[in-house]
Amino acid sequence: MDVLGATPTRNLALELARVTEAAAMLAGRFMGRGNKEGADQAAVNAMRLVLSTVDMNGIIVIGEGEKDKAPMLYNGEKVGNGSTPDVDVAVDPIDGTRPLAYGRTNSLATVALAPRGTMFNPGPFVYMNKLAVGPEAKGKIDIERPTIENLKAIAKAKGKTLEDLTTIILDRPRHEVLIAEVRKAGSRIRLIPDGDVAAALMTAQSDSGVDVLLGIGGTPEGVLAACALRAMGGEIQGKLYARDEDELRRGREAGYDFDKVLTMNDLVSSEDVFFAATGITDGELLKGVRYHGNHITTDSLVVRGLTGTVRQITATHTTDKLDSLSAIHY
Ligand code: FBP
Repeated sequence: MDVLGATPTRNLALELARVTEAAAMLAGRFMGRGNKEGADQAAVNAMRLVLSTVDMNGIIVIGEGEKDKAPMLYNGEKVGNGSTPDVDVAVDPIDGTRPLAYGRTNSLATVALAPRGTMFNPGPFVYMNKLAVGPEAKGKIDIERPTIENLKAIAKAKGKTLEDLTTIILDRPRHEVLIAEVRKAGSRIRLIPDGDVAAALMTAQSDSGVDVLLGIGGTPEGVLAACALRAMGGEIQGKLYARDEDELRRGREAGYDFDKVLTMNDLVSSEDVFFAATGITDGELLKGVRYHGNHITTDSLVVRGLTGTVRQITATHTTDKLDSLSAIHY
């Protein structure tokens, strides 16, 4: 670092880690208990409380939905302590509510921040077709091209054969054709039941065994992944996906273009992004929460776009101390 240059600016992602840790610790108590709503409420309560302490003037662009359906962390809600910077906020208190409620792997809590006005606002349009890759294949993909062409380009960029390439895809009936295309190309497939934020990030981790994410998943999850991939040097492209003619018509009336390719820049147009995620149940990206009686351990990924710093933080939380300081009961 140039000691004569400007003082390093604050890394808000480190504060975001406290937000996702709190959400994960509270939500993790619901693992396998079949109560999606209870888990979500616990994660939302914790996330909202800790977000209120973060030095920022935040507006939720991607939250729990419209105000009438979501009493907290709704789209448009102001979060943070009101000081600068002015930021857009994306939250997913639990990505993988089902796996958490049914005791399965790969659920996590996640938050991202970007300067005000720079995050894509998907409105009520929940699905997006996605193509995400890590740094080596950045700039080599085009979601408009046939699947085989993208797979060939990624394989070439990574110095692999098509047979050695691994594609990760959400296990959904809507992906039948996509899966057939990848099989025809001769590539390997990892089918996952849920959690395509983690899946997108895994493409940017050299030892994850995953080269590319393909398929239709949540739009909010796409924006969150774009924030993280900016810092991790990867790339995601998307295209809004309408489930039927009615949704397409409503989208067009609201000014959304379902034919437009959403590039990284469209999804988040600033490099100055912060992202944090904490594992709730065990996953390949992050370990789940461990409860040890008087302390809890968490595993988080914390990334910052401006510097490209990626941190993996293992934290030990002392429950009675936290309980004495906080409105939350850990
Ligand atoms: P939630 O837990 O927030 O519902 O999301 C889980 C998830 O698997 C996402 O990771 C993914 O983007 C989305 O659901 C896919 O949607 P669907 O389950 O409707 O196919």
